[in-house]
Amino acid sequence: MGMNPTLSVIGCGYLGATHAACMSSLGFTVIGVDTDPEKVAMLSRGELPFYEPGLDTLLAQEIKTGRLTFTTDFSAIADTDVHFICVGTPQSAESFAADLTYVKSAVAGIAPYLKDGALVVGKSTVPVGTAQGLRDELKKSAPQADLAWNPEFLREGFAVEDTLKPNRLVVGVTSDRAEEILKEVYKPLLALNTPWIRADLATSELVKVAANSFLATKISFINAMAEICEAAGGDVTVLAKAIGYDPRIGSRFLQAGIGFGGGCLPKDIRAFMARAEELGAKSAVEFLHEIDAINLRARQRVIDVVRNDLSADLTQYKIAVLGATFKPDSDDVRDSPALDIAVELHAAGANVVIHDPKGIEPARKRFPNLNFSETIAECVKEADLILHLTEWKEYRALDPSIIGQLVKNKMIIDGRNALDRELWRSAGWKFHALGRTD
Ligand code: UDX
Repeated sequence: MGMNPTLSVIGCGYLGATHAACMSSLGFTVIGVDTDPEKVAMLSRGELPFYEPGLDTLLAQEIKTGRLTFTTDFSAIADTDVHFICVGTPQSAESFAADLTYVKSAVAGIAPYLKDGALVVGKSTVPVGTAQGLRDELKKSAPQADLAWNPEFLREGFAVEDTLKPNRLVVGVTSDRAEEILKEVYKPLLALNTPWIRADLATSELVKVAANSFLATKISFINAMAEICEAAGGDVTVLAKAIGYDPRIGSRFLQAGIGFGGGCLPKDIRAFMARAEELGAKSAVEFLHEIDAINLRARQRVIDVVRNDLSADLTQYKIAVLGATFKPDSDDVRDSPALDIAVELHAAGANVVIHDPKGIEPARKRFPNLNFSETIAECVKEADLILHLTEWKEYRALDPSIIGQLVKNKMIIDGRNALDRELWRSAGWKFHALGRTD
């Protein structure tokens, strides 16, 4: 392998498209492979099939350099040195376990074309033990190649920054050679003093699920405190601020509200529970059941507040929902708490109208029966209640007195504890927030 390895990226969804464009921007020749011809056609034109700040321009720019290409043809990787597996590992339809179909077919797809000395590098989030299993398979189908694991920690909304300036690089390897190759690939990032952690395959897989379990736990912890504050007459936002000053605790990920969603945290903690049970270590992560339950309860608590504020029977009311995506600066609606709540209220007979700066199309695809509105003004028009469920900056910039002229009833529930309560109250609004009694 030369000093400047060539790369392939198998699976060009969220993770793969980001990784491919970022590695190309570091000067590597990158071939992206995906089985979806439409996705490949779009990416080849330099168009991003989803919304991610900064990635659209980066992709277009890298396509122009000629270093970055996309194809549906696995054989295109035959001359490539390093192959990143970036396919999805969703929750299976019938259990908590991760569905490994795509990972297995990606590795099987490239195996016949792997050249002598090629390195396959898994980035997808997988149950511990998967990498070893794939390596054993590869030993049979492509003994000339090696396999390593290199988990990805990128956050949606910050994908480019997290890829080009990661807070650490973790590589699970079984040989010095594999580590050397990965050091060559990540040389530009190592030059930024990025911490480098060499681990065995199992530990590298576990780092990812452990990190996501910790983050999920932090969010559910503060949401549990929100429940206590509601019962005891406290204010969770003040409590979070106060405990966050302790550097051992830290103030980030202590935003109480309707909880976590998205394509990672919920399915990752569930897959971890399923895998721990297979390993006979079920009790070690039993607490994640509670984390999941607290998280889902937060969604239910908003619905309880709505019924409390309006009536048990919601059929006569218009509810304006601000936000459909699982977090701001993303168009991702997978397991979105906001959308979940909107669906529940719609099913309860309320006239629900949803606004979102980027998520209307993906949300409509999933729930064609829901009502969406392209403008905030139309969404809130004649509403009996506004629900603020995804903390887009557009919503923090709203003027409560102008919005007050459009609605039927000046009542708002802040499901994210992100709006300025005093500002809304001084404009005459009845303002409720999760975890704040007053
Ligand atoms: C997460 C991890 O952060 C990332 O490292 C991993 O690689 C993939 O999963 P992401 O899914 O993009 O990233 O979202 P994240 O920013 O972690 O937020 C997850 C959810 O938690 C969102 O629904 C967000 O609204 C919620 N959240 C976050 C809170 O409810 N409170 C908080 O304090 C923080």
